[in-house]
Amino acid sequence: MKNAKTIGVISIKGGVGKTTVVSNLASSLANQFGKRVLVVDGNISAPNLGLHLGILNSQNTLHDVLFNNVPVWKAVRKSEYGFDVITGSLLPKKSQTRVNPYKLHNRLSDIKKEYDYVIIDSSPNLNEEMLSTMIASDELLVVTSPDYPTLSCTMHAVKVAKERKTPIRGLVLNKVRDKSFELSVSDIENATGIPVLSVINDDVRVLEALSKTAPASSYFPDKDFSIAYNMLASKISGEEYKDTRLLPRFLGIFKR
Ligand SMILES: Nc1ncnc2c1ncn2[C@@H]1O[C@H](COP(=O)(O)OP(=O)(O)OP(=O)(O)O)[C@@H](O)[C@H]1O
Ligand SMILES: [Mg+2]
Repeated sequence: MKNAKTIGVISIKGGVGKTTVVSNLASSLANQFGKRVLVVDGNISAPNLGLHLGILNSQNTLHDVLFNNVPVWKAVRKSEYGFDVITGSLLPKKSQTRVNPYKLHNRLSDIKKEYDYVIIDSSPNLNEEMLSTMIASDELLVVTSPDYPTLSCTMHAVKVAKERKTPIRGLVLNKVRDKSFELSVSDIENATGIPVLSVINDDVRVLEALSKTAPASSYFPDKDFSIAYNMLASKISGEEYKDTRLLPRFLGIFKR
């Protein structure tokens, strides 16, 4: 019987790419490594994971599970991309945004045996919502980008996770443009004391995939950002992965 590892994807800054990381990592774990994956929209006051995946009309949502005592399995939907999803209600009532932070953990425990990984998309707000994700998670990925304001929020997120004693697996450095003014991986690792597990380029095709409600790594499987997600999934699962594209291998010979 499986007992899923639960990974929370957090940041204390909006728009850095948490939901994108959740859907792309899930797609890589499911499609490259054959894992059974459930993604959960833990952004309780502003859920939009369903919008990333084209799932808009769930009969039951996480809000029904948390606030109306609907059994968790009734809220599970199949995505088109090889993994399951629990979406949130797009327009939650005000009474459906203040949650007991232990409830998500308790409700997800009923379904963890069905999966290898449960990945929780977090709210950027440092309140009961993010606390729910932290308490429900075995480990965290913190999403950041290579600029000072985001780094400052990332250092704050790391501090909060450490205080709560939720292990941080690593940072995902997203939206990198390879500019000389950007913070480097070592700047970010030195400032936070946490390893950068994955570096993902800023690429307009990530937005194009979003407009098709598809994870970019499944819509553009041969692009660098997709390979980066496969390598992240390889690190998370401990399973080997090789970039088999011809051009990068060819260029690699010259670099050596
Ligand atoms: N590597 C990337 N390159 C280009 N655009 C990206 C990349 N990653 C994410 N984006 C875009 O950035 C925007 C914000 O991403 P996303 O919704 O994943 O952020 P978030 O951290 O979940 O935001 P929120 O805190 O509001 O939930 C989206 O339009 C997404 O497509
Ligand atoms: Mg989000």
